[in-house]
Amino acid sequence: MAVAIIGGGLAGLTLALALHDLNIPATGGGIMLSPNALRVLDSVGIYKKIRDKSLQFDVLTFKDGQYKTTDEYYFGSKKLYGYHAIRIMRKQLLDEMKAMVRERQIPTHYESKLVSITRPRRICPSSIGADGINSTVRGTFLPQVKPVYAGFMGINSVVQRPQLRIPEGYSLPATVMGKAGAFPLVPQKPDGSELFIGSQRRFPEADWEALRKDKQELYDMMQENKSDWPDIVQSALEATPVDQMGFWAFHGIPPLASWLSDSKRIILVGDAAHAIPPTAGQGANQAFEDVRALATLLSELSPDVPFEKAAAQWQAYRQDRIKRVLDLTMQMNAKRLPESERAKMPPGAIWSDQSLTRGEGGELRWLYDPDLAKEAKKWVEEIKQASQS
Ligand SMILES: Cc1cc2nc3c(=O)[nH]c(=O)nc-3n(C[C@H](O)[C@H](O)[C@H](O)COP(=O)(O)OP(=O)(O)OC[C@H]3O[C@@H](n4cnc5c(N)ncnc54)[C@H](O)[C@@H]3O)c2cc1C
Ligand SMILES: *[C@@H]1O[C@H](CO)[C@@H](O)[C@H](O)[C@H]1NC(C)=O
Ligand SMILES: *[C@@H]1O[C@H](CO)[C@@H](O)[C@H](O)[C@H]1NC(C)=O
Repeated sequence: MAVAIIGGGLAGLTLALALHDLNIPATGGGIMLSPNALRVLDSVGIYKKIRDKSLQFDVLTFKDGQYKTTDEYYFGSKKLYGYHAIRIMRKQLLDEMKAMVRERQIPTHYESKLVSITRPRRICPSSIGADGINSTVRGTFLPQVKPVYAGFMGINSVVQRPQLRIPEGYSLPATVMGKAGAFPLVPQKPDGSELFIGSQRRFPEADWEALRKDKQELYDMMQENKSDWPDIVQSALEATPVDQMGFWAFHGIPPLASWLSDSKRIILVGDAAHAIPPTAGQGANQAFEDVRALATLLSELSPDVPFEKAAAQWQAYRQDRIKRVLDLTMQMNAKRLPESERAKMPPGAIWSDQSLTRGEGGELRWLYDPDLAKEAKKWVEEIKQASQS
């Protein structure tokens, strides 16, 4: 069976590698990755290649304006979930993936763009849309679906660790909560010598293209009300270089009823199917889960396990999981609102680790420790039994 993967981003390249492992030929800044995704990357051979190029960490900490830890939880843990969390530069990750795709001689066409799918059946047996939040593949059967702005943005830059006034014993990465919202301080580079810093806030829809070019405006926005922040954040603001300014306007795709075309021959994965806001740090992580489960399923197709039934099972499982992640993301979003807004929220709307175990009680195991291959094999058995009875 041949598969066309459209989109050579994180999901597309991982899928190409996963399918290749299963002998199905396929054409086709920094991010934080948690164990659920690292297990997928390990299964396609990428994890070992990127481990030494990334910064390993375990705990994410929330701090108030007085340096007090208000919450913390494991984003990764070798003991709890089998892997430390990592932060890696996106380009490095993509470069490793591309090198491996080349090494395994998986046919790819870089620098080409899918414009339209005129006859889905022709590029069949199936096409997989891994072409991101603005997906052209999605547009061929869901033209009305557009990315929606979530009303939040993060303005960010990069500073060097020695430039910061870090209090004794302050654990990083940390999200500092202040009057205006949240300010993440996230070490990167394998030795943690550089920090990605940012300010997350509510912001009205804007001319994003114009804003992207106006680094001074972004700088000024980030510096606003500087004295409201604790000293560590002030030191980051003082060190911020204007030319490194960037931002991320949080867009999402509204939950889609189906990630499959009517013909069931086109499948959306990753951001094309379910771009979600970033506060639980699960966008790419969930894309990796999508493709691991899908590749395992495709390897099990047989007369007893027809493509359409397998795809429907995959979709049901993945949509259910994305819904849970989205709920968690909304609670995490609420946690990063300005103080005055948080005070007005009903109980349960804001994420907090009530058990105070930082996840050690297994509260987040569902998220970080799923066994996707085992799940996929279970559906295969169910489909087989249903078709035999
Ligand atoms: C600043 C920032 C920080 C983030 N940090 C994190 C993080 O820490 N952890 C996390 O889990 N997630 C993070 N995310 C989210 C994560 O980047 C996405 O969820 C992830 O990249 C989705 O992968 P994807 O392969 O589905 O889409 P993409 O990575 O967007 O890849 C889509 C690919 O398709 C290509 N393409 C588009 N249109 C066409 C076409 N018509 N024809 C051919 N190719 C096409 C694009 O060029 C691209 O290569 C972050 C996102 C941003 C913007
Ligand atoms: C999606 O399109 C918007 C609007 O054109 C653009 O600003 C954004 O960068 C695109 N996102 C991706 C991931 O291509
Ligand atoms: C800065 O402070 C003023 C006065 O408290 C407030 O109105 C404004 O919203 C603040 N700006 C930001 C970005 O938080």
